[in-house]
Amino acid sequence: MKILLTGAGGQIGHDLIGSLSAAGHSVTSTDLAPRPPSHAHASGAAWLGLDVTDAAATEALFEKVKPDLVFHLAAILSARGEKDPKLAYDVNQTGTWNVLEACRKAGVSRLIFTSSIAVFGPPPSGPLPDPTPDDVALHPTTMYGVTKVAGELLCAYYTKKFNVDCRGVRFPGLISAAMPGGGSSDYALFMYVDAVRKGGYDAFARNDTRIPLMYMPDGVRALLELAMADRERLTRSIYNIAAFSPRADEIAASVQRAIPEAKFTYSPDPRRQSILDSWPKSLDDSAARRDWGWKPKYDLDAMTDDLVPRVRRMLELGAILSTH
Ligand SMILES: NC(=O)c1ccc[n+]([C@@H]2O[C@H](COP(=O)([O-])OP(=O)(O)OC[C@H]3O[C@@H](n4cnc5c(N)ncnc54)[C@H](O)[C@@H]3O)[C@@H](O)[C@H]2O)c1
Repeated sequence: MKILLTGAGGQIGHDLIGSLSAAGHSVTSTDLAPRPPSHAHASGAAWLGLDVTDAAATEALFEKVKPDLVFHLAAILSARGEKDPKLAYDVNQTGTWNVLEACRKAGVSRLIFTSSIAVFGPPPSGPLPDPTPDDVALHPTTMYGVTKVAGELLCAYYTKKFNVDCRGVRFPGLISAAMPGGGSSDYALFMYVDAVRKGGYDAFARNDTRIPLMYMPDGVRALLELAMADRERLTRSIYNIAAFSPRADEIAASVQRAIPEAKFTYSPDPRRQSILDSWPKSLDDSAARRDWGWKPKYDLDAMTDDLVPRVRRMLELGAILSTH
């Protein structure tokens, strides 16, 4: 299959390109930024510059490549988006519109949209239900969440109106051996990265912070399984997917199983904590399980066991690259 990725240079792109190439697909990776050194494994796949806010360039590239399937990953994540809401609007909102239009004009039949738990926010009537189902009133508190809600709605609209089969998942905070990309769930990843490189971490979240999280191999598998699912089996465009929902201090305890000397402290940053507090504590993903057989493989400790050696290797490689 001919597959094109936008925003391929990020955390998800890194692992998704590897899985797609290993499965024998022809992959065209695009990003605003040049191929990062961490993506050296993808050197066999084409890498093209593409700014998704540039409608003409996006249309021209999709017309030239004529992909069968597009994974639209390009975005400005939540914490960075709050520092620069206009940039988040331009990339996430206008960029998604441009990608949908480019799919429509180039006859791309299937598009995968990557939404987020940031679409949720506390409704005026009280806290979000725990677990939070797919269909609750959406009251996002960040520009990132606002643009993801609009992206979800556009996805359903283009499917119905223009036959661009757009489907997507609401990702929990994703954790992998990568440097964090500016999301509010980064405290979880820093617990691993800083435990390895600094012997501990002062978290920007409270110790009782609890949000849905997922290990990247499960996240990538979810994207692939949803992308390949029969349309007839799908009862909706966008699905909640879940894996585990630990408190911050439960993540710390899991890391300490692997690195007993690691020390963790908590100094909540009011801005980022308020974003975390607005998100669901856990997700109801029963529709994804029912419609396309979604099931996570990793729980928190299984992730820790797999992740800690990978973080070590990533940091060693980073140190080697920075001295060359
Ligand atoms: N990582 C998570 O925990 C998480 C959780 C929920 C949803 N998501 C969604 O998954 C997708 C991928 O996330 P990620 O973690 O890989 O993000 P990331 O920040 O690591 O990567 C995003 C990529 O988009 C690129 N980009 C930014 N502006 C662009 C533009 N104008 N044109 C083209 N590319 C541009 C960046 O260069 C970067 O390589 C995003 O849509 C994100 O909203 C991620």
